[in-house]
Amino acid sequence: MSTPAVTRALFDQIMVPNYAPLAMIPVRGEGSRVWDQDNREYLDLTGGIAVNALGHAHPELVAALTEQAKKLWHVSNYYTNEPVLQLAQQIIDNTFAEKVFFANSGAEANEAALKLARRFAFDNYGQEKTEIIAFHHGFHGRTFFTVSTGGHAPYSDGFGPKPADITHLDYNDLSALENAMSDKTCAVILEPLQGEGGVLPIEKSFAQGVRKLCDKYNALMIFDEVQTGMGRTGSLFAYMALGVTPDVLTSAKSLGAGFPISAMLTLTKFAASLTVGTHGTTFGGNPLACAVASKAFELINSDEILNGVKEKERLIRHALEKINQQYNVFKEVRGAGLLLGAVLNEQYQGRAKDLLLASADQGLLVLAAGASVIRFAPALNISNQEIDQAMDKFEQAVKVLIK
Ligand SMILES: Cc1ncc(COP(=O)(O)O)c(C=O)c1O
Repeated sequence: MSTPAVTRALFDQIMVPNYAPLAMIPVRGEGSRVWDQDNREYLDLTGGIAVNALGHAHPELVAALTEQAKKLWHVSNYYTNEPVLQLAQQIIDNTFAEKVFFANSGAEANEAALKLARRFAFDNYGQEKTEIIAFHHGFHGRTFFTVSTGGHAPYSDGFGPKPADITHLDYNDLSALENAMSDKTCAVILEPLQGEGGVLPIEKSFAQGVRKLCDKYNALMIFDEVQTGMGRTGSLFAYMALGVTPDVLTSAKSLGAGFPISAMLTLTKFAASLTVGTHGTTFGGNPLACAVASKAFELINSDEILNGVKEKERLIRHALEKINQQYNVFKEVRGAGLLLGAVLNEQYQGRAKDLLLASADQGLLVLAAGASVIRFAPALNISNQEIDQAMDKFEQAVKVLIK
């Protein structure tokens, strides 16, 4: 049998239809540029949805990966390995964490966090303390527990009975949380900036209020930093700029800078509840993933990258303001660092996908967050010149949209 030509049409023939990828197929990337099968060049402001924090094919990450690939790929959790311990130590040295658990995706890190919260409550306060409080428009992944915790019911409807005892409240509404919380609450889980839900920033006073209420009711405060972590908002983790420290934090996406890995960070007293055999994963802590993540951690946790994020945020915001002055398409630009959302105004509601496609026609890759928000999550090391070029292309796409 001959091998079929690799085309976008083949996707529709042989793949489960849960995605609808663009027509072009990327085949190569370097820094913030990618090329498709026809060798057409695109500027990439998606970062693989906030994953490729150091761009495509970063030479130091390629070197870390190839060096490890020649030594040891996988050993299972019957053994530990050197890269996993090096990475865990880096994380502990630079965050609130005293203990780390590694998995492979954001959802799995959150699954571990939620299970930890339930088990810690069970061990210490008895069977009644099972309520998890989460927020509308929050997103925590697609396993059944995490998607039911997420604040968008259509994602979890239609799969049979949902995990019980999950309450959803409005984000940034402290009095709603005050009214809802009780001794039955075992955890409050939230993003320090809702990414998928529309790039909605948190109010500092809300984050601090959540912390106080979690202390009052002996509930774990879980920060889902899957999208915001690893420099994305201009600090290593977003909690560092909010004046609160969570009990549990989850990281994924940029943690491996493109290699699948996630982590759950916590304190020794909570980690103690996940004793041998209570939780696990075959691939978590895999040497290849940890070697890449360890190098990425070293490169991202630097003044050069973190201060650069703030500067590049200013550049993008300034360019978007100029575009908006001329074409009046956005009602606001919100977000933090290099996780920014341009919210379409009333006249262009529901047209984010059109603008995304018009951008791709101009050789520019951007994201949407819902039907009316264009999201930018470029590599943290994108150059200022590339931002200028990208914004010129985006202006051309806006012109097409308003025609
Ligand atoms: C805040 C947040 N949590 C969890 C997830 C799920 O991560 P993954 O798709 O790696 O399972 C995402 C993915 O977009 C996310 O943005």
